[in-house]
Order: sequence, then C-alpha cells, then structure tokens
Amino acid sequence: MERSGEIVGFYTERYDEAGRLERRPQSRLERIRTLELLRELLGEKGSVLDVGGGPGAYARELIADGHRVRLIDLVPAHVAQARAGEPPIDAVVGDARKLPEPDGTWDATLLLGPLYHLHDRDDRVRALREAIRVTRPGGRIAAAAISRFAGPVDLTATGRWDPNDGGRMREHFRELIDDGRNDASIGFTEAYFHRVGELIGECREAGLREIVVHGVEGPAWAAAEAAAKGPDADRVFAAALELARLYSSEPDVIAASSHLLVTGAA
Ligand SMILES: C[S@@+](CC[C@H](N)C(=O)[O-])C[C@H]1O[C@@H](n2cnc3c(N)ncnc32)[C@H](O)[C@@H]1O
Repeated sequence: MERSGEIVGFYTERYDEAGRLERRPQSRLERIRTLELLRELLGEKGSVLDVGGGPGAYARELIADGHRVRLIDLVPAHVAQARAGEPPIDAVVGDARKLPEPDGTWDATLLLGPLYHLHDRDDRVRALREAIRVTRPGGRIAAAAISRFAGPVDLTATGRWDPNDGGRMREHFRELIDDGRNDASIGFTEAYFHRVGELIGECREAGLREIVVHGVEGPAWAAAEAAAKGPDADRVFAAALELARLYSSEPDVIAASSHLLVTGAA
C-alpha cells in the first residue's frame, strides 16, 4: 500500500526501534505513562491485538500481566524481533488499514504507531475503523498520535535548534503549524503530527465511542530533556512524571505532551 515502502525502509535501514523507549527522558516518560494508561484501560486479563506493535515492548509487558496478545506490524524486521524475544510473541506482518482478523474477536485493540505514519486522513480513519471492526462491541481501543508541537519543542529542549541558522527550521516549524507534516530532513521520517481536535474528529468519524484524550508525557517532558545531563536530572524527571499523571486528561495542556493517547470503546 501507499507509503508502506518508506516506513519499512526507515525502520529496517535507518532506525533501531528496539530499545527506543529506554533511550531518553521523553521516551522513558512515554513508556511509563503509556503502560499505566493501558493497565487502567485493559483491566485484569483479556485478549489484546497490538497493531503497529513494533518489536513488542508493550506486548511483552501485557503478556506478563496475563493478557493474550497478538502483534501486527508492517515491518518484517519488527515482527521477527517480536517473535524472537523473550517471551516470544504471536506476531504477523500486516497493515493497520486492512487487518487480517475477523470482526469482533478482540477484547481490546491498540494502535500505537500507525496513526503518525499515515499522512492521509482517509488512511488514518480507515485504520481506526479497522481497529474498531476487529474489537468486540464495547471492547477497548487505544490509539497514539504525536502532538503537532512535539518536534520543535524537542529540538529546542535538546539544543538542536540554532535560531541563527538562517531561518530554515523556523520556516519548517511555521509550516508545520498549518499542515502537520514532518520534514524528514530535520529528523524522524515523513510523518503526520496531530492537533488534539483533529484526532478527536478522526476517532468520531471512525465510530469510536467514549473518547478520552490523554497527554502521555505531560507538559514538563521537555524540562526533563533539558535537565538530562545536569545534577537535577532525576528530580526533574520524577516531578515531570508526577505532572504527567496529574494533568493526564486536562484539556488545556494535553497538546503540550509529545504523544497523545486516545482511548475509547468499540
Ligand atoms: C514508533 S513505532 C511504535 C512501536 C510501539 N507500538 C510503541 O509504541 O513503542 C511505530 C510502529 O508502527 C508501525 N506501523 C506504521 N505504519 C503501520 C501500518 N500502516 N500498519 C501496521 N504497522 C504500522 C511501524 O512499523 C512501527 O513498528
């Protein structure tokens, strides 16, 4: 399907997804808060389809919690890593826009990755519809997006934006506000970054019910990045984590998180 080759190429040749969630304060906050939110959403034990599950970081945690998990990912190398790790995961190659699963079979479906790799709104709504289709009526859905403002804030917090660069980055940041399209020459890959209202609109159009949007890392994740090499790193990280919990679904600050997690019912 369209753009599949670009995504497979990025994760196979240019980026090592395994271990990403441990690499830096932002991703450590992402991992802790995503797991907390998933555990609240999923409850005790059930069946979980992890679409865009990558090498299986969340799938392994959920299996350890007692859930039965199947992982689907577009990138064959990720599926191979998921199958090979410990415990091995039931993993298959597939596309979020056309899931190889019957209707209404899973207690919960996760979509933690595909939405920011799908540039076209129709594709994102299709992926959300597919997640709902394969989930039993009333079952749970969780989908991740990247906030529209995450990239510029990240580059600022980590000292990678020099405002005296002749205006190139500022020009991209200006365009990003309107079109949501990441410039891969600056970082990451071609990707789509959401406004909160847009994400809610896509979920509503797909038929998701009981929609709640969380800011995953909270508004102080950039402070934790900026403090990472200093003497207060641990204290700032711990405080940023507490703020992420406190403001998790506070509408006025959720867009300040790097990731958004929308939850709802099929
Ligand atoms: C940043 S990784 C996230 C992995 C993991 N879910 C997490 O949250 O840490 C994004 C994942 O989405 C997968 N992906 C992107 N587009 C997809 C699609 N259309 N169908 C299935 N997987 C897709 C990628 O291959 C990659 O493994």
